[in-house]
Amino acid sequence: MSTEPNLPPPVSPRGAGARRRQCVAAAAAATAACLAPLAVLLAVLVLAPSLLPRLLLRPHHVVPYVASAELRLLSFDAAASTVVYNLSATLRFDSPSGLYTWRCTALRAAPSYAGQRLGDATALPGITRRGAGAGDTRAAAWAGTQRVPPGRRARAVTAALARDRAVGWYAVKVDVATVQNGAESDFACVLSFPAAAVAHNGSAAAVFDGGRCVDAVRCDI
Ligand SMILES: *[C@@H]1O[C@H](CO)[C@@H](O)[C@H](O)[C@H]1NC(C)=O
Ligand SMILES: *[C@@H]1O[C@H](CO)[C@@H](O)[C@H](O)[C@H]1NC(C)=O
Repeated sequence: MSTEPNLPPPVSPRGAGARRRQCVAAAAAATAACLAPLAVLLAVLVLAPSLLPRLLLRPHHVVPYVASAELRLLSFDAAASTVVYNLSATLRFDSPSGLYTWRCTALRAAPSYAGQRLGDATALPGITRRGAGAGDTRAAAWAGTQRVPPGRRARAVTAALARDRAVGWYAVKVDVATVQNGAESDFACVLSFPAAAVAHNGSAAAVFDGGRCVDAVRCDI
């Protein structure tokens, strides 16, 4: 009976090659582990100057404010499947802080009710301002007859009118599209009008005292 000595297996050239490859792989992994934080640091250093103003300061981004608004007509003609509307709003753009020139171009505003756009967007004059100062205002007015496709859309408008009348307030949305110093910035403004103040013949106006708009994703206006 012979006892085999418990020796490590002989080192074959193939085994040495495998071990070398393992060493190389381990060294590469260690290098990558060391370099990864460095790469992240470099990326942050390179990107920070362009990202920080966008993320934190947004110097070219002025959110409009609805200074006032009036609603004279908002009713649905079931026979013709049309919304008859007449409203106006004054948008205020307060001064951006800083000493650079702020340019607001391609300024457009469009009202909608219950998801139904009322007429075409109104193009408003652009604004150019440098430094602090009083806010600029732009007045927009929309009036007309908007056809609503019968069916789901028409039902949505009818239901919204009934609900808003019951609650006592008409909620009309105004989408505002702008290009501020070259960057597209869009906003949604919700205007609330006391329903009781709107006469059916447009002789009386319901007044909205004003409110801030919020950032919105671009909708084709
Ligand atoms: C909308 O209301 C204003 C203010 O009363 C009025 O001058 C204008 O003629 C109305 N527009 C339409 C299309 O009815
Ligand atoms: C409109 O209706 C109101 C009552 O809601 C009435 O007092 C007024 O005279 C009407 N105006 C017109 C022009 O028909």
